[in-house]
Amino acid sequence: MYSEVFCKVYNEFGWNYYPEIFGEQLLQWLERNGVAPKNAMDLACGTGILCEILHEKGICASGMDFSEGMIQIARQGNPEIHYDVADMITYRPEKQFDLVTCTGDAVNHIANLSDVKKIFQNVYAYLSPGGYFVFDILNEHEVSDSEPFEMDFTESTRVWFQMTRPGEKQVNLKVRVFEENELRFEENIRETIHDPSVICQMLRECGFEHVTCSDRLLEDSNPGTTWFVIGKKKKGE
Ligand SMILES: C[S@@+](CC[C@H](N)C(=O)[O-])C[C@H]1O[C@@H](n2cnc3c(N)ncnc32)[C@H](O)[C@@H]1O
Repeated sequence: MYSEVFCKVYNEFGWNYYPEIFGEQLLQWLERNGVAPKNAMDLACGTGILCEILHEKGICASGMDFSEGMIQIARQGNPEIHYDVADMITYRPEKQFDLVTCTGDAVNHIANLSDVKKIFQNVYAYLSPGGYFVFDILNEHEVSDSEPFEMDFTESTRVWFQMTRPGEKQVNLKVRVFEENELRFEENIRETIHDPSVICQMLRECGFEHVTCSDRLLEDSNPGTTWFVIGKKKKGE
């Protein structure tokens, strides 16, 4: 779970660019594939950017996240959008959705594959028949130990980041925020790399069909740094 301070940093530092790009491409993907969802659920929605993008296009978007700080920011962004604070491993809304998304490598925040499978089983249950599940996962080749780097956020606030690979399948992002050169807080975000072929196989075991995994959502766009995974729920279920 992200601390409240980190949620604010996440929001203030503009890490919203990722769901913005994802949202733009997703809208094109929907249009090109003749998919017109009436409603959508964004799992681990963070600050709600993707929900807002879908809402602006007339899709009844909802979101959920287990970090209360993220949901607070999301609710402030658009009070008309419904958000839940919950853990996506056990989340099982009664309503069904035509589209379920999960971006910003949120699935890599789940360390155990058995928990990832629970998410997929639950998503299958609350997807409408014929609905799509679209998400991204880290591409192992795109995450490596990096030199620390710093950014000035304001005249008095500086942020320091470093990505490391403490284990073969582990990624750690350390973030430190300094104010007036004093350390204000430090956060470690731990992620686990999942093999895309295992993830796709797991989706099939949960009932999804037409499962695809690609380094881009749109055929004619540049490759991204993550894998984009899509699964469809069978029409008759
Ligand atoms: C890197 S952020 C991505 C947020 C948003 N999807 C985006 O693209 O900006 C990862 C998010 O996953 C959320 N998260 C991680 N594990 C979760 C879980 N088990 N249930 C719900 N949310 C979770 C975190 O709170 C955080 O908001």
